[in-house]
Amino acid sequence: MSERTAAVLGLFDTPGALLEAIPAVKARQLGRLEAYTPYPVHGLDGALGLRKSPLGGMVLVMGILGAITAFGFEYWISAVDYPIVTGGKAPGSWEAFIPIMFEVTVLFATFTAGLGMLLLLNKLPFFGHPVLASDAIKAITRDRFALSIEAEDDGFDAAAARAALAAAGATGIEALPAPDRGPFLTSDYILRVAGGIFTACVVAGLLMYGAVKLFPVLPPMSHIEDQPRLDAQKADPFFKDGFGMRMPVPGTVARGYLPLGVSSQDEAAALVNPLPTTPAVLAEGKRLFHIRCELCHGPLANGTPTLTAAYGAKPANLQSEQIRNYPDGKIFWVITMGKNAMPSHAADLTVDQRWAIVHYVRALQRAQNATDADVKAAEAR
Ligand code: HEC
Repeated sequence: MSERTAAVLGLFDTPGALLEAIPAVKARQLGRLEAYTPYPVHGLDGALGLRKSPLGGMVLVMGILGAITAFGFEYWISAVDYPIVTGGKAPGSWEAFIPIMFEVTVLFATFTAGLGMLLLLNKLPFFGHPVLASDAIKAITRDRFALSIEAEDDGFDAAAARAALAAAGATGIEALPAPDRGPFLTSDYILRVAGGIFTACVVAGLLMYGAVKLFPVLPPMSHIEDQPRLDAQKADPFFKDGFGMRMPVPGTVARGYLPLGVSSQDEAAALVNPLPTTPAVLAEGKRLFHIRCELCHGPLANGTPTLTAAYGAKPANLQSEQIRNYPDGKIFWVITMGKNAMPSHAADLTVDQRWAIVHYVRALQRAQNATDADVKAAEAR
């Protein structure tokens, strides 16, 4: 072990004694002063003459940088790189950026506060500190207060340091030898490794970007890039209107979306329910009626909504004489097209699902208006 003394440590019994000792020891200018206490002691930073922490300023700057980054990023995406109108907003509407700007501000600020404090300002982790190897360290973490005079250069006078601490009333004094090996896993080291990894990622990213950009321009790959084609959402002089993307040919019908062939509820009266009245179809109709219709028309379809009165419109009573006399097609039409306050369900229900619901509405109507013949038929079964 080397003979060099890294620091001289003096123990005090109370925080008051520690605070009193500091000015006298400081006046002797023997080395860097540092205090070690089991809990924060008010006034210690002032007595040691510590500067105000720059952390607040760092957090402010990084927070503002975060807000600017988010704004720039969102503006670039929505107004420069891909200006598409969504939700009726003009490209670059800053109001919509605020939530993400807020988030990124907080992100930058909190990471700066946490990492800046630990790594940059406190220089943690720091496992090689001589005080950690001292005899006094246990007492310091329990109930004693230490003041250490730490060597700043080779001219450190350990004897004078001992004398100064004793004169200031230290109850125990310990000289700490300089450790034979430097501290390991320090903040410097971690920052350097992180910086190395970051640099490697940036370099690798640029190389890959370069390779991907360059690769297609080298033959024969360039032939794929160069061949004539229409790009989606790109201008193209091939068509007169200059659009690369085309509208479907008039009259195009998407698979599974055959038009009804009728254009009013009255015309729809001619449509015939293509589904048989099997238990499976009725069960499916019942399931879908529960999900899609019941909240407005009520479980019995009599227009008593399960919604509260807060739903302003008046859903029709499907048990009324008029609707019972509707042909199936007119009910199908309403489900498909909606009517006044009733929304269209075309997007939510397939054609077959709509017809299954029509069957189930018929069953509900019949259940509420059973005739003697119905009852006899049921008894006979
Ligand atoms: C959001 C509430 C709501 C939902 C959900 C809803 N309806 Fe309606 N429905 C209404 C209202 C309101 C009316 C009355 C429309 C009018 O005539 O002004 C109505 C009317 C009707 C009518 C009578 C139309 C006419 O020609 O008078 C039928 C039949 C009907 N609904 C069936 C259904 C079926 C079947 C479903 C489930 C697929 C359903 N509704 C889902 C609100 C709703």
